[in-house]
This record gives sequence, structure tokens and C-alpha cells, in this order.
Amino acid sequence: MKFAGSHILSVSQFERADVEHVFSVADRMRPFAERERMTKALDGAILGSMFFEPSTRTRVSFGSAFNLLGGEVRETTGFEHSAIAKGESLYDTARVLSGYSDVIVMRHPESGSVAEFAAASRVPVINGGDGSNEHPSQALLDLYTIRKEREHQGGEVDGLRIALVGDLRYGRTVHSLCQLLAVYEGLHILLVSPVELRMPESIIEYLRERGHTVLESDQLEASIKQVDIVYSTRLQEERFASSQEADLYRGRFRLNQSVYTEHCQPNTVIMHPLPRDSRANARELDVDLNDNPNLAIFRQTDNGVLVRMALFALILDVVDLVDTESRPVQWFTARRFK
Ligand code: NCD
Repeated sequence: MKFAGSHILSVSQFERADVEHVFSVADRMRPFAERERMTKALDGAILGSMFFEPSTRTRVSFGSAFNLLGGEVRETTGFEHSAIAKGESLYDTARVLSGYSDVIVMRHPESGSVAEFAAASRVPVINGGDGSNEHPSQALLDLYTIRKEREHQGGEVDGLRIALVGDLRYGRTVHSLCQLLAVYEGLHILLVSPVELRMPESIIEYLRERGHTVLESDQLEASIKQVDIVYSTRLQEERFASSQEADLYRGRFRLNQSVYTEHCQPNTVIMHPLPRDSRANARELDVDLNDNPNLAIFRQTDNGVLVRMALFALILDVVDLVDTESRPVQWFTARRFK
């Protein structure tokens, strides 16, 4: 695919070679994310960051990634602070805001809204999550993490056995991740959810058409015995008609250290897009797993910066400038990736 000047709206844009290309650029971003070197590759560039749904890590890591490349960030958060609250259309908003930035990241509660916005934008737009539809940058950082974890264990992504657990109906991260994983070969995918919150049939069919094995279950323990990765998710409460309806499913699947010890193989990697719901009635991923070395959730969040830097460098066509415009940092830096 052509990256320079392109929107990133869906994982369906990526073939395997494109994914590998993003990851090789992400690897080159590590000295900058680790604060060993700084770069001015995007000096003067402006990111328009528009989040019309709650977000912590996606919003901040996109902003940090842009800053780390030397660019500046302008933020709009919440409908109540934007002219959308006055009835402005996505078309007009896109026409206006694309005049103020070089690239835009947008999150919006409606499926398809970011693509609609992008169609009217004069600059590239990255989908930071559109309703329950897609979250392509999350899928890329998840896959990048899966690759790193597998490499660490001497394995690869082809032939991976992965259980995706939780709200597979509304979870956009698992929708995007499944479709992106499909570019690899011979995967065994276990979809663990309440029957009412199953993965959309179209995604299951897509995986099977590409030759992958897909099994569905509503039992956690039996499904995590033979997998390399358990990818847990939060109940997408905001997509339910009421919190009473969400209560029917809350806390249904709980992975904690004792469940892990009893049912998982010793090196099974634990992932979650975060935020995990740590309230007593949910706890899909218990805090007692925090010292488990196979808990990869904070490696995922660190990797998010690398992958998002790579996307900006590719879209704005400065991959080689990142090194040539760089120098060592001169302040004390404590933060180190693991
Ligand atoms: C996810 C999202 O917004 O879809 N969060 C994220 O971006 N890491 C998952 C979630 O909110 O449950």
C-alpha cells in the first residue's frame, strides 16, 4: 500500500508486507521513544487530535508519538466543547479542521463516522476508533506486541493459538485484530464470549475463508488451556442500551493468577487493550496478575508509541529524516522499555 498522504481507516488496507513495513519502521523509533535520541523530523507539523469519546492511552500516545517526532498537537475532546454540539456536520467540521493541521486522529462513537469525516478532509485522517467498528492502530500495536512476545519465546505469528475473551460483539479492538491477524497463516482462534456477545459472523467467515481455524465457546477455563495468548477485553458498557443490560454479562470471565496457574500453560502471554475494569463486579483481568512476567499489557501500551510514530513517519513521509534530523538527548532520562 501507499502510505504517504493516505488515511488509515481500516485494517483491511493492510497486506502482510505492509504490516511488516510498519513494524520495521516502528523498530527504528525505539531510541526516540526511549529518550536516548530526539528528532526534529516533524518540526513545524501539527497533529489535530479529535476525541469525541473517552480515551486515555490512544489520545495521549498518538500525541506523544507526534511530539517525539518533533511535531505539535492541537486537541479537541468531547462534543460539548466543539461546534458539533451546535449541529455542525462532520463534513463541515472536516473541511474546517483539515485547514488547521497536517494530519488528524479522530475517535467518534458512530461506526463509519471517521471514514465520513476523512472523505471531506484535506489532510490524512487516522481512525482512533469508530464506535464498535474498528480501531486499526490498536490492532497494529497488538500485533506488533504479539510478534515481539513470540520472538522472545522463539516462536512466530504463523500458527499462533490465541483466545479472544469477553465482549466480542461490541469490542472494536478484537474486530480489527482478528482481521489483521488474518494476513498470517494457519492461526487457531478461540472466541470466548457470552452467546449474545459473539464475534460478528462476517469476521468469523472472513477468518475461515483465509484458512484459519475458528472455534467459539462461552467457557473461559476450557478455552485457555492450549493457547499461546489470552487476549482479554472489557465489557463495552457504553454500547449497551442500559447498565442493567450490561450487568447481565459483567464479571462473566475473570482471569486471575489462580485461574491462570490452574488452566494456562506456563508461558501463555496475557494481553488486554486496556482500560481493564478493576471494579469488584468486573475484574476481567485481576491485579493479582501484575507480577506475572507474561502479563504484556504495559508492553502493549509502550509499543503503541512506537507503532503510532511509525504511522506518522510513513503517512507524512519522513521515515529517513527521523534519523538524519536527530541528536542525543541531553537531560536525565529514567524511562526505559522492558
Ligand atoms: C479500547 C477502545 O477504546 O476500543 N481502548 C483503547 O483504545 N486501548 C478498548 C476499550 O475501551 O475497552
